[in-house]
Amino acid sequence: MKFNVITLFPETVECLTNYSILGRAVGSKIVEIQTHNLRDFGLGKRKQVDDTPYGGGAGMVLKVDVLNAALEKVRSDNPGTYAVLLTPKGKKYSQKAAKSLANQRNITLICGHYEGFDERVRDLVDAELSIGDYVLSGGEIATAAVIDSVSRLIPGVLGKDKSTEEESFEGGLLEYPHYTNPREYKGKEVPEVLLSGNHREIEKWRKGQAEKITKKKRPDLKG
Ligand code: ADE
Repeated sequence: MKFNVITLFPETVECLTNYSILGRAVGSKIVEIQTHNLRDFGLGKRKQVDDTPYGGGAGMVLKVDVLNAALEKVRSDNPGTYAVLLTPKGKKYSQKAAKSLANQRNITLICGHYEGFDERVRDLVDAELSIGDYVLSGGEIATAAVIDSVSRLIPGVLGKDKSTEEESFEGGLLEYPHYTNPREYKGKEVPEVLLSGNHREIEKWRKGQAEKITKKKRPDLKG
């Protein structure tokens, strides 16, 4: 799986994706992340990437011609790439969307900055995604969230014995609770059933807990 990232801050994306599980996936070449500095496509001596908004108002707007030049270059080097714009106006990102993106072989993520994009940028992409109802200063953190959540669904990225099948959001449920040592901590005990060695009972308890927790914390998930 290859991710291209068009951004004014490649180091931010690199520092968010170079570590832990994702860092290892990159090291073992299961995942490739190539950043493309939008500034390289800027216009004129000053490599201009943004301009003041028509109609007035605060802030600067990323230019459609500059973003198009960057995306065209990425598309010509990555035929068939699926282009995604990260924006608070996008469709709400979810585990379902992550699974769908994991079927792509090549994804291009476009990070906004400043006040936003020229509206015509929306016509250049295949999808617009938001990672939640809040405004980030740029799309880099959102991009890293998408790359991380998609990559861990790719076979070989998680360890052999780890699977995503029992994780939160599978079957519309939050995951069951986990415990490790000590068996008792400040009066709170590890549930007895987990010490029983009875795997059928443990499975039943975990399923029950997942349902209970989901109902309590995220009633919107089920059904
Ligand atoms: N850029 C700024 N805010 C964002 C959000 N919530 N999701 C995706 N991209 C963004």
